[in-house]
Amino acid sequence: MASFFIKTFGCQFNELYSAAVADALLRGGNQRSDDVEHASLVIVNTCAVRRKSEEKAFSFLGEAAKVIDAGHIVFMGCVASLDHERARRIAGHGLRIVEGTKSLDEVLAVIGTLAPIVLGDDPPRSLFPTADIEIIRGCESYCTYCIVPTSRGREVSIDAADVLSGATKAIDHGFSELLFLGQNINRYQSKVGGLVDLMTLVDGMKGSFWFWFLSPHPANFRPDEVRRLMELQHIEHRLHLPLQSGSNRLLERMNRRYTVSQYEQLAEPVRTADGWALTTDIIVGFPGETDDDFARTVEAVRQFRFDAVFLAKYSDRPGTPASRMQDKVPAGVIDQRHALLLGVVQELSEESNQRMAGRTVEVLVLSWREPDRGFGRSIDGKNVWFASPGRQPSAGEFVHVVVDHGSREGVYGTAVW
Ligand code: 5AD
Ligand code: SF4
Repeated sequence: MASFFIKTFGCQFNELYSAAVADALLRGGNQRSDDVEHASLVIVNTCAVRRKSEEKAFSFLGEAAKVIDAGHIVFMGCVASLDHERARRIAGHGLRIVEGTKSLDEVLAVIGTLAPIVLGDDPPRSLFPTADIEIIRGCESYCTYCIVPTSRGREVSIDAADVLSGATKAIDHGFSELLFLGQNINRYQSKVGGLVDLMTLVDGMKGSFWFWFLSPHPANFRPDEVRRLMELQHIEHRLHLPLQSGSNRLLERMNRRYTVSQYEQLAEPVRTADGWALTTDIIVGFPGETDDDFARTVEAVRQFRFDAVFLAKYSDRPGTPASRMQDKVPAGVIDQRHALLLGVVQELSEESNQRMAGRTVEVLVLSWREPDRGFGRSIDGKNVWFASPGRQPSAGEFVHVVVDHGSREGVYGTAVW
């Protein structure tokens, strides 16, 4: 029996793999440790999308290696597949490295040599009430700033029968939300067709559940597909559609393969539907970004009235085409632009949340935080804090909440029964 500690950096894929590893270890009779010092097995699940996350992974590894033998540290995720050498220099040659592109089975095989594990094919319990389900691994889009095609490799779609049986199992086990994952999810292809065909089959499943997916690429999406998805019964009322920049010139340099007006055609059905949210990713300070390019991004963010924006400062990733571009934007300019756009983004989120006042929204309960206050997420993806006089709903239940007011962080209201 081992006591284990898992540190996770980065995306939803890493969250899923870490949760699955934790579940297998717990089923095997191991215990979770609250800190590295008291753990006999440490797992570091890493992210290489930005330099900062990579540095954090190495620094965590260095600290862990001071208190635990490298042979009991598992280093996995994107950094593990990109820079074995540095990891071994930091922790020692005994370090157990599992490359980031490997499937979960292979990760578990390595961990199984260090501690007892018991495999299960249910969705990880620690993510309850959400079941994360990977439907396509890897990415071949080669956006010029991005390390993912190198770290995660070629695209592999998961067989539709496996996806659907995973989804059925999740619902049978009482999960309320299915989150389908793929780095470039609308490149999904299987015997049943593409993403929309698969989601339509999911929608036909029996039970009370919501689902949504991350992340589609605008170049691989058509407006009629967006419309078909929006007609489904169980789909959440939100679309996350990464824009990255509001300048066509930069979109081309990023190799994104769409223009702002093509993006607009995809966003239009969502923007004109009542109660639907549109969210995005934006990179500030991509090489060659001029004041004019940046102004176009600010304008686009305002034009699309994004309900939430994940804003990143451009981070140079060695080996990517963008890292070889000569006209890098100085860090000070990136900081200034980031601060300015963050102000706009926060203003839009606040407005979006304030517009909810007076409405009744469907909410998935995630936890019960205070004696008389629940926390959940609305069907359009907003954080919801709610009072529930006389009844305390459990995580995984769906409730209706009358919204009283909104803030930058979310909305506040009262559950009605
Ligand atoms: N620098 C900054 N942000 C990046 N992203 C991906 N690569 C980089 C990079 N080199 C962002 C993109 C993507 C999100 C997952 O991370 O916005 O959509
Ligand atoms: Fe990276 Fe682009 Fe692939 Fe997304 S679509 S993972 S940003 S290369």
